[in-house]
Amino acid sequence: MASMAAFTLVAIDPDTESYEVGRPFIEKAGVAHKVDFREGKGLEKLDDLLAEEAAAGREAAFDFAFVDADKPNYTITPDPISSRWS
Ligand SMILES: C[S@@+](CC[C@H](N)C(=O)[O-])C[C@H]1O[C@@H](n2cnc3c(N)ncnc32)[C@H](O)[C@@H]1O
Repeated sequence: MASMAAFTLVAIDPDTESYEVGRPFIEKAGVAHKVDFREGKGLEKLDDLLAEEAAAGREAAFDFAFVDADKPNYTITPDPISSRWS
């Protein structure tokens, strides 16, 4: 698992207002600089993230993924994530 100093949390939601509800708590915890918020649908943004990492010559790796949205796609969401566990 990556050290706490190296981690980034990627938060994806098509509704920025939902993210804004939680932002004060993220800021209070002092970790706002660690959160990479991406507005959009999870699977699409995950593809973008993987493409960015590939373009930078890195392979995206995740220590943890929490999915609490887009319930009809739950059955396909784990594959693009679980194949890239670090
Ligand atoms: C049940 S709420 C959960 C929010 C958060 N996990 C929490 O516990 O406070 C579901 C969230 O999923 C978002 N959502 C809906 N479809 C999505 C998708 N395709 N990709 C990413 N997020 C989505 C909604 O905008 C909403 O903010």
